[in-house]
Amino acid sequence: MTFTALLLLLVSSSVPAAVAVLFNEPRIFGEDATGYGPIFEEEPVDVVYTEDSPDKRISMNCRARANPPAAYRWRRDNWEIKLMEQPDEHYSLVGGNLVITNPIQKKHAGTYVCVAKNIYGTVISKEARVKFGFVEEFPDEEREPVRVMEGQGVVLLCVPPKAWPEEVTYRWIYNEFPVFLHTDRRRFVSQKTGNLYISKVEAQDAGNYSCFVSSPIIGKSVYSKFTTLIPLPPDDGEERKYPADISVKFGDTTAMLASNITIECFALGNPIPHIVWRKVDSTDLPANHEISESGAVLHLYNVQYEDVGAYECEAINTKGKDWHKAWLYVESAPEWAETINNTQVDIGFVRLYAI
Ligand SMILES: *[C@@H]1O[C@H](CO)[C@@H](O)[C@H](O)[C@H]1NC(C)=O
Ligand SMILES: *[C@@H]1O[C@H](CO)[C@@H](O)[C@H](O)[C@H]1NC(C)=O
Ligand SMILES: *[C@@H]1O[C@H](CO)[C@@H](O)[C@H](O)[C@H]1NC(C)=O
Repeated sequence: MTFTALLLLLVSSSVPAAVAVLFNEPRIFGEDATGYGPIFEEEPVDVVYTEDSPDKRISMNCRARANPPAAYRWRRDNWEIKLMEQPDEHYSLVGGNLVITNPIQKKHAGTYVCVAKNIYGTVISKEARVKFGFVEEFPDEEREPVRVMEGQGVVLLCVPPKAWPEEVTYRWIYNEFPVFLHTDRRRFVSQKTGNLYISKVEAQDAGNYSCFVSSPIIGKSVYSKFTTLIPLPPDDGEERKYPADISVKFGDTTAMLASNITIECFALGNPIPHIVWRKVDSTDLPANHEISESGAVLHLYNVQYEDVGAYECEAINTKGKDWHKAWLYVESAPEWAETINNTQVDIGFVRLYAI
């Protein structure tokens, strides 16, 4: 056993030297000492395109160093794009770059690779995805009016349409565009769901509300049909009081090491509840935190392993308390023990050597 292990060790330790010799060989065998196969200097990267974009084109870059200069081809989802044989009004080749004018989702979304070739060899680039960003419209159905007793809490649902990328922001239009509702201790807009929460309704809340969704990445906004909110005066002229009741709850969250996270907690109740954040089993919140939206939102910046734990929000008013608790986990992205660089292997030579 010991002997075998030792032998393996000897064999493997001698491999790097053998590889080094192999890589040096082609130069000696090459007929033209200055010629070489293509080596990428620029490879295409992922693109998000939206149909509303002003210049109506996608450009994907590809450039390789080669002698003689490389010829370029492109593949979409493993199909050769026949730039020469079947000219297409959408595709053109500028140097090694592929330009798509007036892109259409059905024809042009997909995974692209650039292929650079000369007499010494062929290289294939990394894959680059072309995706189409969008924000759908809200449905046309009218929204029912909402009647609420003054002093009670209410939630107006946003029910946003589909969007990609999913990062969107939410606001509510009050009565008419472009008047946006002010959020404060009493009124909160969740950036997770878009819903509008009013901890206790007042007579002045009467009016029409529309959920406004914006995608900062693609620069498009859409808004919902209006919901009419009708506050009803209390029966005996006196508002009833309600204990704090947490209605925006954060779930267990897994954050990447060094990322930023945001968690939300908001309560209905009369008087307006007060929100307090805590890290369970810890005297303080992490130093790199910030609380905004009158207490409803906790941001943790540059999350570290020591921030792992349960986080609690407590909502309090004179009628009572409510709690909510969830966990934060922290994960790191996989780390490479060693960075492997691109390697150019002359396939022709290896085949020759094998014979
Ligand atoms: C709210 O909408 C209704 C129905 O469209 C309209 O009659 C009413 O005047 C609007 N109220 C306000 C305050 O804009
Ligand atoms: C986290 O937030 C800080 C401050 O707003 C910002 O400078 C940084 O780029 C953010 N980091 C990530 C990973 O988003
Ligand atoms: C990979 O390339 C980088 C920069 O070109 C260099 O610093 C590094 O030593 C290389 N790594 C290996 C394993 O060859």
